Amino acid sequence: MTARPEIPSAHGSATLRPDTVVVSGGRPAPEHDAPVGPSIVLTSTYRGSGGSVPADRAYGRYSNPTWEDLEDVLARLEQAQLPALAYASGLAAIASVLALVPVGGRLVMPRHSYQGSLALVADLESRGMLTVGTVDVADTEEVVAALDSADMLWLESPTNPMLEVADLPALLAAARARGVLTCVDNTFATPLLQRPLEHGADVVVHSVTKYLAGHSDVVLGAAVTSDPALRDRLKGHRTLHGAIPGPFEAWLALRGMRTLALRVERSAATAGELARRLRQHPAVLEVRYPGLPGDPGHERAAAQMDGFGSVVAIVPAGDVAAVEAAVDGVRVWTPATSLGGVESLIERRRRHHEEPRSVPETLLRLSVGIENVEDLWEDLDRVLSGIDR
Ligand SMILES: Cc1ncc(COP(=O)(O)O)c(C=O)c1O
Repeated sequence: MTARPEIPSAHGSATLRPDTVVVSGGRPAPEHDAPVGPSIVLTSTYRGSGGSVPADRAYGRYSNPTWEDLEDVLARLEQAQLPALAYASGLAAIASVLALVPVGGRLVMPRHSYQGSLALVADLESRGMLTVGTVDVADTEEVVAALDSADMLWLESPTNPMLEVADLPALLAAARARGVLTCVDNTFATPLLQRPLEHGADVVVHSVTKYLAGHSDVVLGAAVTSDPALRDRLKGHRTLHGAIPGPFEAWLALRGMRTLALRVERSAATAGELARRLRQHPAVLEVRYPGLPGDPGHERAAAQMDGFGSVVAIVPAGDVAAVEAAVDGVRVWTPATSLGGVESLIERRRRHHEEPRSVPETLLRLSVGIENVEDLWEDLDRVLSGIDR
């Protein structure tokens, strides 16, 4: 486990720990009569005077005070020197970062990246914007060998849905030594469990939709960097392509983040307990969870993360029809895509046609929420025990 960072407070010199920053960040200055919570600023434009436009604001597509509350907290959690950039969705943030690859340049990315990222990259490749090499991100030698001709290294760790763990310090150092730009999708870990900028990443992206917002009621994304030139390019892209969040969505995300530390702690503890029990279950052939000793990613995750996250993948016995019937039978879990909300979700990933064929056909991704562990276990145990093996 890495040392927990202390983060300077916005309204004073005291350094605060991340679980305090999620509560205290992005609030109005502590003046008499000031509101305690941030406002939702609904405006499409800003006043100018004397013939000049306001320096940064000018127009609602350039900036918004409610975005900035969220961007400030995210930057401090990721240990960035500059405010984060909020986007309309995680994929919008990813598209903005991928636009940093020069036309015709080469991108290296994990074979089991989030399928939306893979689909976006395939679309860019089909239009001649870039070329892609996919790698087994857990195989450090394979990734480093692919860097020689690369312009950008894309990393996701743990990966969605296979939960492979990349050696972030080694890969980011190898990329830096070769002048290859790096971006880490930190959605699964959240900045509470992993801070890739500390390991040398140039940019971090998030699907804020997931753990950060945490209540399955908002779609939002973010990119974070400490490099002023990169941030200018990303912000320029966001402004010109218009992939901006609504102020209400930004406010909802920050509202959700107030409980991030509690949710991550509780759901990760439950995920660990379920993973241990699932490993003993007669109807489960394979369990993937970096928190399990013996999992291929365990030692790496223990060295570079502050916890193991709340997604577990299992391969049950039985064919696709039997596994789908089990999913349909759940009562406490919800059969749905997405992850990172307070409610536990279960999904057979290969029901998406875009999911790579190397993901087992019957693999179930479990996004563990904050319900009682015994209720979650009884529901899972019941449907898995009903699988005809
Ligand atoms: C790891 C990861 N990155 C990015 C995304 C895309 O985020 P969004 O759905 O907010 O566009 C997702 C969505 O599932 C994801 O799981």
